Amino acid sequence: MKYIFSLEFIYLVASITYILGLKMLGKPGTARKGNLIAAAGMTLAIFGTIFLYQGKVPTYIYVLIGTAIVIGSIIGWMIAKKVAMTKMPELVSLFNGMGGASAALIGLIEFEHYTGKMLSTTTIVAGIIIGSVSFSGSMIAWAKLNGTLKNPIRLPKYNLINNLVIIGLIVFAGFMTWSGTSSQVYLYLLFFAALAYGIMLVIPIGGADMPVVISLLNSFTGLAAALGGFLYGNMVMLTGGILVGSAGTILTFAMCDAMNRSLVSVIFGSFGQGSSEGSDGLTSETMTGSIKKTTVSDVAILMNYSQRIIIVPGYGLAVAQAQHAIHELEQLLVSKGIDVKYAIHPVAGRMPGHMNVLLAETNVDYDKLAEMEDVNPEFKNTDVVFVVGANDVVNPAAHTNPSSPIFGMPILEVENAKNIIVNKRSMNPGYAGIENELFYNQKTSMLFGDAKAVIQSLIAELKGM
Ligand code: TAP
Repeated sequence: MKYIFSLEFIYLVASITYILGLKMLGKPGTARKGNLIAAAGMTLAIFGTIFLYQGKVPTYIYVLIGTAIVIGSIIGWMIAKKVAMTKMPELVSLFNGMGGASAALIGLIEFEHYTGKMLSTTTIVAGIIIGSVSFSGSMIAWAKLNGTLKNPIRLPKYNLINNLVIIGLIVFAGFMTWSGTSSQVYLYLLFFAALAYGIMLVIPIGGADMPVVISLLNSFTGLAAALGGFLYGNMVMLTGGILVGSAGTILTFAMCDAMNRSLVSVIFGSFGQGSSEGSDGLTSETMTGSIKKTTVSDVAILMNYSQRIIIVPGYGLAVAQAQHAIHELEQLLVSKGIDVKYAIHPVAGRMPGHMNVLLAETNVDYDKLAEMEDVNPEFKNTDVVFVVGANDVVNPAAHTNPSSPIFGMPILEVENAKNIIVNKRSMNPGYAGIENELFYNQKTSMLFGDAKAVIQSLIAELKGM
């Protein structure tokens, strides 16, 4: 019984909830519950630490901790309640930055208590560097995503300068640990130089690559927290940090794969400045064929007589906030005996899992969400593919045009379907800023208009059939 109320046992339970929660986050159907389970574990760990800690803590510290928890919870709750789905990536970035800052602050406070202890000082300086880079880098990412910082800023030879700064930081940190210094001047010099490096690292990176960078910074924060756990010998902090660090790293590489980008080219490359000029040598003039426009009535008739329809949602669905409308359309088609599913591209939208989150909001049946690898072979047996606000993720140039910036990126092979209906507002390009030859395909018909309005008209039309 005594063991159950021990800190070790509470930490063990909390660590299990993190692992379980993370596993459940991997599937849309269990993600919500997984998040709650991990959050409950974190709450348990925090209160366990506060109430079961054996050392002497003055009462005013408890008051400070309690006040911070109350204020932080209220602010966090209010922000999370209010945030629009399209603003989620910048919120993640902001929260991640706070984690990095906490890890760096731990290092700043603890440095003087561990002077002369080589292993502890190494842990502290590493935590300060990684936490500070994560904090300042995340703040720049946040400013880029909310539009405050619009374009990447690239000074001449920025890659070389960045490399020299990080090498300088590591050498300086090595000197600090090796010399056993207790100098606060050195400590703050290291801290501010790491903050500057975080800014220099993220500021040249283009918009389309930002989610990869955020995920990378997220793994840095996890690593910095794990270093804090190692310093204190606190198992739950260590486990939590390692899980965040490794999950962030796996996500970073998964996103790089889905966008056919290497991490090196994300950090040192230049794709993804959100250009709309096109950089693949294709313009609407050089495209062969012409576009074919269609109407809501024609599409409704086509759908009504189909047996199999696949919906391909993209960023435009989120912009139009058409998730409820598309779900209603899907239910209507199903009620007519049509087999309907959604094809989900891993980087459709502007954040990992964007389409899943969007559709989960409307309680779409998760069995109807098909992943790219599973759905691609199915297009050839599909009567109608309905592309709603998606562009780059269905662009065949990824397979056919070696000079395209998205060449090699896996795409949804909708061009294999019998009929392709593309809904968007204009012929404007998507995020990569390039033309899409799919729109000129003989099987493609363009249904122009705002996704929500178009889908609602389709529903009205289909109801009358
Ligand atoms: P995009 O290629 O960005 O295309 C979205 C299309 O939606 C646009 O062509 C736009 O055309 C249309 N649209 C916008 N508002 C609309 C509305 N209200 N109604 C109907 N259509 C609307 O989107 P995608 O296919 O989802 O591809 C995502 C792109 O973002 C990829 O290049 C990916 O690499 C990149 N990216 C992804 C992520 C992650 S992690 N998901 C993060 C950053 C960047 P109109 O203006 O003509 O309507």
